[in-house]
Amino acid sequence: MENRSKYLPNKGDKCARCRKEASICLPAHRANFCPGCFVHYFENAVERGIKKMRLNRQDPLMIAVSGGKDSLATWQVLNDLGLDTKGLFINLQIDEFSQKSREAVQKFAEDRGLDWSEYDLKTEIGYTIPELHQQRQKKFCSLCGRIKRQLINRLAARENFQTVATGHNLDDEASRLLGNLIDDRQDFVEKQYPFLPSPHPRIPAKFKPLYRLEKKEILYYCELKNIQYLNQKCPFSKGATSKYFNQTLEFLEDKMPGTKRDFLYSYLKKDKNLVYEEPFNNCRECGEPTYVELCGICRLKNSLSRDNI
Ligand code: AMP
Ligand code: FES
Ligand code: ZN
Repeated sequence: MENRSKYLPNKGDKCARCRKEASICLPAHRANFCPGCFVHYFENAVERGIKKMRLNRQDPLMIAVSGGKDSLATWQVLNDLGLDTKGLFINLQIDEFSQKSREAVQKFAEDRGLDWSEYDLKTEIGYTIPELHQQRQKKFCSLCGRIKRQLINRLAARENFQTVATGHNLDDEASRLLGNLIDDRQDFVEKQYPFLPSPHPRIPAKFKPLYRLEKKEILYYCELKNIQYLNQKCPFSKGATSKYFNQTLEFLEDKMPGTKRDFLYSYLKKDKNLVYEEPFNNCRECGEPTYVELCGICRLKNSLSRDNI
């Protein structure tokens, strides 16, 4: 498990809710909590997100799980809050990394009696991640992210789910927002809202239940809930620029607790026009909904096969 020593309270500090001895200190909230009250705080933050985003609690949710701390914590908390959930794992076939990811998902689900589906990237799109990496090293992480997003959508739709939840947390969202603003990518800024309604019957709505929670809070939650996640970075994620934005925000957070939250929430407060243009086409090759003639996955497959001629 990762180290969270920075957030240990001083000896004698009391829980803000029940006055028992505190076990975690959250400077951004100027509060300390004992283990039980921390779980209450964590669940409350997710519940608040559900209400703010006006999610229907009765709708079954497909949880995209990678085996890492964020997505397994997402699954745990939604299940504990009584939502109807099913896991979705895409095996990317990144050797040992994917094997361990799968094991983490399997153990988590088995221990809790939860249902999940596994899909194989090679079967779905004809390539594994290492095969794609061989041909496309440039900005590989963002390519991989796009493929995963599209595949998660279509697999959830295939299983008749109308909403998909992912494990993106406050740190991910704040650093992505900073990156998008610096590069002036307004359309990306719009698309990173924590809840995106479904624009088409075959494209599910997307929800990020942990958008109000920081990495350190998720780590502690995993510890308390005995979530045995895979604590390993994908071997192809080297060179992703997002870490610089993250480090910058961490620096500010350290000096001014609450900065990350304030930054993200101030953007969320702005009026959003969350009505999306409907995809007007079915992909010429695979029939999936798309805004253009060919869907992103078919465009990628075509460009790879052209390179191999
Ligand atoms: P990442 O793009 O790795 O930051 O992952 C973002 C989110 O996508 C995670 O929190 C998961 O919800 C989901 N995800 C990532 N990898 C997988 C996978 N192999 N299978 C299913 N969902 C995934
Ligand atoms: Fe996408 Fe590693 S999981 S680059
Ligand atoms: Zn297609």
